Amino acid sequence: MTTEAQPSDLYYGDYLQLGRLLGAQAPLSRRQGSEAHDEMLFIIVHQTYELWFRQILHELDAVLQAFSAARLDERRLASICAKLERISVIQHLLVEQISVIETMAPQDFLEFRDLLVPASGFQSLQFRAIEIKLGLREQDRTAFSACAFYQRFKPADARYLRALHTEPSLFDQVDAWLARMPFLQDKHYDFWSSYRNSIEASLSADQQLIKTHPQLSADDKERQLAQLTQTRQQFDCLFLPEAYESQRTQGLVRLSHRAIQAALFIYLYRDEPLLQQPFGLLKLLVEVDEQLTAWRYRHALMVQRMLGRRIGTGGSSGHDYLRTSAERTQIFGDFFNLASYLLPRSKLAPLPAELTRLLDFHFSTLHRDA
Ligand code: HEM
Repeated sequence: MTTEAQPSDLYYGDYLQLGRLLGAQAPLSRRQGSEAHDEMLFIIVHQTYELWFRQILHELDAVLQAFSAARLDERRLASICAKLERISVIQHLLVEQISVIETMAPQDFLEFRDLLVPASGFQSLQFRAIEIKLGLREQDRTAFSACAFYQRFKPADARYLRALHTEPSLFDQVDAWLARMPFLQDKHYDFWSSYRNSIEASLSADQQLIKTHPQLSADDKERQLAQLTQTRQQFDCLFLPEAYESQRTQGLVRLSHRAIQAALFIYLYRDEPLLQQPFGLLKLLVEVDEQLTAWRYRHALMVQRMLGRRIGTGGSSGHDYLRTSAERTQIFGDFFNLASYLLPRSKLAPLPAELTRLLDFHFSTLHRDA
């Protein structure tokens, strides 16, 4: 019996199924007898997007799977972050890729545009799946006509999207993970009251500064003190659980009260070794959301350039609808808004020594104790 390796008969084109892939471009204008040169570009750009959407969903499903365990194994955080990072890098590419479609002149698009009606990128099932799996809810969508969102999809696709909405999204899972976070409270320490005291001290110092500032006129002082009262009210809504819940019911905030406390703890004390990775995770969620919004804006601008004020092939007002959707659609907005509640390190209450030790890497604790 020979142990020599046999030359594999695996062939590049077969492995990648290039026959199928490269045979999947069928311009409608060609079938109509007069091929519009740019329709090939239009098809290939869309197909490329769909391939990258597929990869994003592959990563996102793995992240959701890791989070679905009753308790997230913290050792998986690094690989979760690596996957989110990959998603974000792909998204940068997707935003850039719009330049490729912009090499098509609006008049050349008109050569085949009418053949596309009523199909539209609006019906991209994978794009919708990404939005929903990240955490977009039905009520977050911008309506563009009396015709309901799902009516624009084939029945089986609409059923698939509705079913996706019933599963826990990444937003839900991160909320639950944050809400379970330890460290915020024990016999000797309560993060929320310590943070509240720091905020109170900082606001009182600001008030004093405004009142006694020699270069501020009486009018300036009055205006700035009124602004400070507004800031106080904003903090009251954060500190008082009933006020926070009422904001949540109105859709002004989305995270649970416990989760927002944990997120703030992570943001404020992110230098602590054990909090560095959770901070990295929250930062990546913001990054992914920001890239999605950047894509929406970039796509809306490209559409204005391509269509002007024309309506879309899917029946929307075109650029107006897309711009509104870009302005209003955000999934992890609460994490963006955490910046309103931050304090500089100098004004932050130090953590108790015992907690600092818990949040340290084991090795550096040993080293310090030695
Ligand atoms: C000439 C190029 C393009 C034009 C003129 C265009 C136009 C439009 C318009 C007008 C809409 C709104 C719905 C409608 O009325 O049809 C739309 C939505 C959409 N398009 Fe495009 N599009 C183009 C290229 C692309 C590409 C390359 C993609 C990549 C997959 C894409 C993905 C989408 C998505 C996902 C939506 C839904 C956005 C939302 O609802 O917020 N489009 N497009």
